[in-house]
Amino acid sequence: MKVVRSVAAMSRLAAAWKNCVVLVPTMGALHEGHLSLIDRARRAAGREGTVVVSIFVNPLQFGPKEDLSRYPRPLRRDLALCRERGVDLVFHPDADEMYAPGRSVTVDESLLTGGLCGRSRPGHFSGVCTVVAKLFNLVRPHAAVFGQKDYQQLAIIRRMVRDLNFPLEIIGSETVRESDGLALSSRNVYLTPAERAEAPVIRRALLLAGKRVRAGERDAGILRGVIEKELAAAPLGRVDYAEVVDAETLQPVARVERPTLLAVAAYFGRTRLIDNLVVSLK
Ligand code: PAF
Repeated sequence: MKVVRSVAAMSRLAAAWKNCVVLVPTMGALHEGHLSLIDRARRAAGREGTVVVSIFVNPLQFGPKEDLSRYPRPLRRDLALCRERGVDLVFHPDADEMYAPGRSVTVDESLLTGGLCGRSRPGHFSGVCTVVAKLFNLVRPHAAVFGQKDYQQLAIIRRMVRDLNFPLEIIGSETVRESDGLALSSRNVYLTPAERAEAPVIRRALLLAGKRVRAGERDAGILRGVIEKELAAAPLGRVDYAEVVDAETLQPVARVERPTLLAVAAYFGRTRLIDNLVVSLK
C-alpha cells in the first residue's frame, strides 16, 4: 500500500493510472462504517482496480466553535486498517499542502445546503464541496463512495457532480450500525457511557415515525411530533433538528407524498449525532 502526502505526487500518479479507480474520501478515525465503504469501493473497482482512501481532516468544514482540534487522528491505526482491507493507496496530505496560502475559490451549493445540518453549521457544506472537488481533481477516480448516514452531504455531492459535470459515478453506501441501532460515527468515541446508552433513541424515533408512515400517516407535522416525543424520552439528549423533507430537494414537506427523508440531529453532551430514514409510499 502506497501512502502519498504531496498533491504533486498524487496528481502525477493519477495521470498514469489506466485501470478503474475508486475513491473513498474520509477524515480518518476509521471504523466499521468506513471499512464497509472501502469494501464497496473494492467491489466497484474489481480485483484489478485501484482503491484510494483519502485521510484528511478538512479545516474548511469545521466552524469556529466545532471540534477541529479535538477531532481524533489515529493515523497508524488507520493505515493498518487500510492495509488489512486491501487499499492500494492512501492520500494523506496536510492542510498546508491541500490549501495554498491566499486561496480564494470555494465550491458552494445553493439549494440543498440551506436546511438540516446546513442551518446549524454555516459554511460546512462549502468546505465539504471544496475539498471533495479538489480530491476528485487530484485522484481522478471513476467512482467515489460516500455513506448514506450523511444523507445531506451525499445529496449535495451528487448535485455538485451533476451541475459541474465531474466525470465520475457517486455510490451511496448503507449506514452501518451498532447492534442497538446507533449509527457508527467517528464522534461516538466522545460519548460518556450514560450518553452512549441513550443515543440509540435517535434510531428508535426514526423507526417509530417510519412505522407510522407505513400505517398510513402522511402529515409531516404529526410525524415530526412522533420523532420529537420519542427523543424527549432521553434526558441527556438535546434536539438540534427533527425534520421531514423531500428526499431529493431536501425542502420541507407538509405531507409524505413522494420519497421523503426523516432526519435528526441531536446533541449528547457536546457530541452532535445525526441519522436519517428514507420513507416512500411503495
Ligand atoms: O464525510 C466525511 O468524512 C467528510 O465530510 C469528507 C467527505 C471526507 C470531506 O472532508
